[in-house]
Amino acid sequence: MLSDKTDTWVPVALSQDLPTGQAMPARTLAGPIALWRSQSGRLAASADRCPHRGMRLSHGFVRGEALSCIYHGWTYSQAGRCLRIPAHPSLTPPETIRVATRSVEEAGGIVWVADGEPDGKPPLFEGYVPLRSLTVRAGGSALSAATGTKAAVEGFVWRAPGAPAIRLLPVPQETGETLIHVLVPADCGVSERVAASRAAESLRRMAERIEAKEAVP
Ligand code: FES
Repeated sequence: MLSDKTDTWVPVALSQDLPTGQAMPARTLAGPIALWRSQSGRLAASADRCPHRGMRLSHGFVRGEALSCIYHGWTYSQAGRCLRIPAHPSLTPPETIRVATRSVEEAGGIVWVADGEPDGKPPLFEGYVPLRSLTVRAGGSALSAATGTKAAVEGFVWRAPGAPAIRLLPVPQETGETLIHVLVPADCGVSERVAASRAAESLRRMAERIEAKEAVP
């Protein structure tokens, strides 16, 4: 599922964090991406750099089925083609003006992106639903030490005292941080979800303390 290859699916966000008509930044191994959901609910992922003057497209705004750059309003389709240049309203933009796009799929409440053409569909984690994502200022070894289990990028189950067993999907970031998606059993009640969320925050603190100690020469 996850590896250092670019043709594998990477869980970049939770569906619940990307409402209709909005854009958000995310990352893959190939760099930053703009993730956006059109008014009809279709997902798109593109390089987070406008071909005009490099503004981040994740700062742009969604209009209908297109994404407009916040700087000069160049507008792009989900396939990456430039549809409109406001300073030249009568011009049909040449096909050569386009933004690179990525494969994107939604499965089990998670948004998956691949830089290449992956075989098959993203995985489904039967019996689990997404709870939240959090960023930890620590890498895989500190996370493994904090959980007492190998922090496999395919995901792993961890249980803190007083909380339900949760499934964690760690996604290493270029910054050395780790984005973690937290999944809980689908039959969890409200109090168990709160306990799971607190357990994830406590894990973040533990991993960051370990990372800080490891960084001391
Ligand atoms: S930088 Fe995006 S339209 Fe100018």
